[in-house]
Amino acid sequence: MNLEEIIGKCGSLKELEETRVKLLGKSGEITQKFKELKNYPPEERKEIAKELNQLKERAQQLIEEKRKVLEEELLQKQLESEKLDVTLYSPRPGGAVHPISATIDRIVQFFNSLNFSIELGPVVEDDFHNFEALNLPKYHPARDMQDTFYLKDGNLLRTHTSPVQIHTMLSQKPPIRLISPGAVFRRDYDLTHTPMFHQVEGLVVDEKGKVSFTNLKFILEEFLRYLFGSETKVRFRPSFFPFTEPSAEVDIGCIFCGGKGCRVCKQTGWLEVMGCGMVDENVFKAVNYENVSGYAFGMGVERLVMLLYRIDDLRSMYQGDIRLMEQLKW
Ligand code: PHE
Repeated sequence: MNLEEIIGKCGSLKELEETRVKLLGKSGEITQKFKELKNYPPEERKEIAKELNQLKERAQQLIEEKRKVLEEELLQKQLESEKLDVTLYSPRPGGAVHPISATIDRIVQFFNSLNFSIELGPVVEDDFHNFEALNLPKYHPARDMQDTFYLKDGNLLRTHTSPVQIHTMLSQKPPIRLISPGAVFRRDYDLTHTPMFHQVEGLVVDEKGKVSFTNLKFILEEFLRYLFGSETKVRFRPSFFPFTEPSAEVDIGCIFCGGKGCRVCKQTGWLEVMGCGMVDENVFKAVNYENVSGYAFGMGVERLVMLLYRIDDLRSMYQGDIRLMEQLKW
C-alpha cells in the first residue's frame, strides 16, 4: 500500500477525510488488517502487529501533514477572493469631516476671530479641578447634577470642560480669553445623551469692572446668530451654576417651528443651547485671583449638532453608518 500516493493525491479536505475513513475508520483497510491478526500463528503476530502499528502511525502522520497543507491552501484562496483593492475606482465620494468635528471647528473659528485662544485640558481630572475649585465642595447637592464616572484611583472623567478654566487660571495671569473644546463624560444614555459627548467652554477674565454681563450677552448673541442665522432670536433665562453668579441659560427661538411651538421645543417656542454667567468670586479665590471680573459659558456640541443637522437620535452620530454620514456632509 503506497500511503504517500493515496494521501498525496487528495485534492480537498473532504477527500482527505474520506481517505482517512477508508484507511483508519472502523472498517478501514488498516483497521481491517488488525482484525485479521488473529488468523496468523501466535509467534508471527507480534512482528506483524508491530509493522501494522508503524503503518497506522505513518498514515496518521501523512494525513495530518496533508491536512495542514490543504487548510493553508484554503485560507490562501479565501484571502485571495476576499482581497480588497483599495486603489480601485469607487463611485462613492471621499471622506468628510464628522458633523461633531465640523461644528467644533465652526465654533472655534468664530471665537478665534475675536482673539480667544484655544486651551485644552486632560479628560482624566481630579476632584479639585472638576468640582472643588469650581465652587462645588464635597456633598454640595449640585454635584448630583452631573453623573460622574469615577476611576479606581479616586480621579474621575471630567463631567464638563469647566476644569480647563481652573488649569488656565492657575498657570496664567489675567487677562484671559479662552475657548476650550473637548470630550466630557457623564453616566447617561438615551435619545439625546451619550456617555461621552463634547463641550466648548469659554472664559474671559480681566481687571475688575472691565468685563460685564453686557459683554457676555453681546458675544453670545453674535455667536448664536453666526451659527443659526442672523434672524435667530436669543434670550437669557436666569438659572443656577455653582461657578457663576449671576447665571443664565441661553435659549434660541425654535428653529423648527419659528417659535410657534412644536414637539422639539416642547411647545415653548424656545430651545436651550448653553449655560453662562459671571465667574463666581469663590472660583477666583480658589485660583488666587484678586481684583478681577469675568464671564464664562459652556455649550454642548452634540446638542447644537442635533439642531443644526436636524437629527433626533444622537446615538446615530457614533455608529459610523456611511449612508447617514453622507447625508450630513456640510
Ligand atoms: N459647565 C456647565 C455644564 O456643564 C456649563 C457652564 C459653563 C455654565 C460655564 C456656566 C458657565 O453644564
